[in-house]
Amino acid sequence: MSILETLIDRTSTPPRLMEDTDGPTPSDIQDILRAAMSAPDHGSVRPWRFVVIEGEDRAVLGRVFADALKTRDPGASEEAIAKEMSRPLRAPVVIAILARVVHDRPNVPEIEQIVATACAAQNMLLAANAKGFGGILLTGKNAQDENVRAFFGLKPGDELVSFLYLGKSKGDQPAKPRPDPAQFIEKFGAMIT
Ligand SMILES: Cc1cc2nc3c(=O)[nH]c(=O)nc-3n(C[C@H](O)[C@H](O)[C@H](O)COP(=O)(O)O)c2cc1C
Repeated sequence: MSILETLIDRTSTPPRLMEDTDGPTPSDIQDILRAAMSAPDHGSVRPWRFVVIEGEDRAVLGRVFADALKTRDPGASEEAIAKEMSRPLRAPVVIAILARVVHDRPNVPEIEQIVATACAAQNMLLAANAKGFGGILLTGKNAQDENVRAFFGLKPGDELVSFLYLGKSKGDQPAKPRPDPAQFIEKFGAMIT
């Protein structure tokens, strides 16, 4: 496939379609992180940070999610708590993608630093695909949860952009039907008054 076709046919791999084993090795993860480094980044602020969570650490993250749910919703069912607990166990590797935003660069507003980190996330997804792994960005309620944010040491203005779940895909993902880009075109001429 050409690079263009690869980009056009890109799909996320949900955890239910990932193998439990044969996840990315440390060397694969290093390549995926190297791809993150070439994300577009105004002023080379490099606001992105990555926390690689694998093995037993995934259960620790699950407890953080479950505790956060119990605080958000003291009446949460046992089933809902168990679901939070097991979330990170659904893929062999989870990478928390954080934007630690700096505030002393007036030419690089917060939003641009968050966008740069999101671009890094996309590069990581594509790099994972290029290496034969499936991946998906998932946040649920956890990325905005105060207790989860505190666990990752996020300050006001920082963002937990997403959790990137990575694993070997159980089979080839069929290409998804995508909308016609024409639907998303707005005419420049209509904006000129
Ligand atoms: C920052 C971010 C967070 C996301 N969080 C979730 C989520 O919590 N749950 C979910 O079902 N999809 C989430 N998605 C969407 C999936 O990552 C994925 O794009 C979606 O399942 C569609 O699949 P596709 O990428 O193959 O089109 C998120 C996407 C982004 C960019």
